[in-house]
Amino acid sequence: MEIRDARREDAEEACRVLRRSIVELCAADHRHDPGLLAAWLSNKTPQTVAAWMSRPDASYLVAVDEGAIAAIGAVTDAGEILLNYVSPDARFRGASRVLLAALESRAAERGATRCTLISTETARRFYRARGYEEVGPPVRKFGMDSGYPMSKPLGLTATLPVPSGGV
Ligand SMILES: CC(C)(COP(=O)(O)OP(=O)(O)OC[C@H]1O[C@@H](n2cnc3c(N)ncnc32)[C@H](O)[C@@H]1OP(=O)(O)O)[C@@H](O)C(=O)NCCC(=O)NCCS
Repeated sequence: MEIRDARREDAEEACRVLRRSIVELCAADHRHDPGLLAAWLSNKTPQTVAAWMSRPDASYLVAVDEGAIAAIGAVTDAGEILLNYVSPDARFRGASRVLLAALESRAAERGATRCTLISTETARRFYRARGYEEVGPPVRKFGMDSGYPMSKPLGLTATLPVPSGGV
């Protein structure tokens, strides 16, 4: 699995991964409600993704496996994780774990001392296992109440030991 900065020509494939990740993996959040899904997907177009990628104050990274984008993530220089979406074809093969570590490293390189994010219900357990703590009540995003503000100081080990029996 290679992690590299996204390029403009990645926008279309990255957008497909993003949309499939939401539709196929995030059912705990959208519960297959067509209205919620439409709201969530409304700004996920290749054009918007390409525009996001040119933000000067953020890094867009992709995890590439055998020539295909396995996951896409983004972090601002201030440490806000904007995206972290794995392809359903690459789920539970370490793509999000490696990508998140790379996003945290990039934020640290840019001077951030902590990473913050709003987790989906789907990824909440994943972030907890990576050392993120919930820092406030759930917030509303795209009509769903399942946005969990989380935060992790940087400079600690990227991965906490997972208790036996899972998390
Ligand atoms: C949950 C998710 C983030 C995990 O990413 P992944 O690339 O599939 O998985 P990885 O192999 O990198 O990480 C595995 C970790 O996922 C977690 N995990 C394992 N099974 C899980 C499950 N059924 N549900 C949630 N998390 C699970 C564990 O923490 C596991 O860590 P461990 O191997 O140390 O025990 C991903 O599968 C997913 O559903 N993404 C959907 C998009 C999304 O919600 N993104 C977050 C936006 S804020």
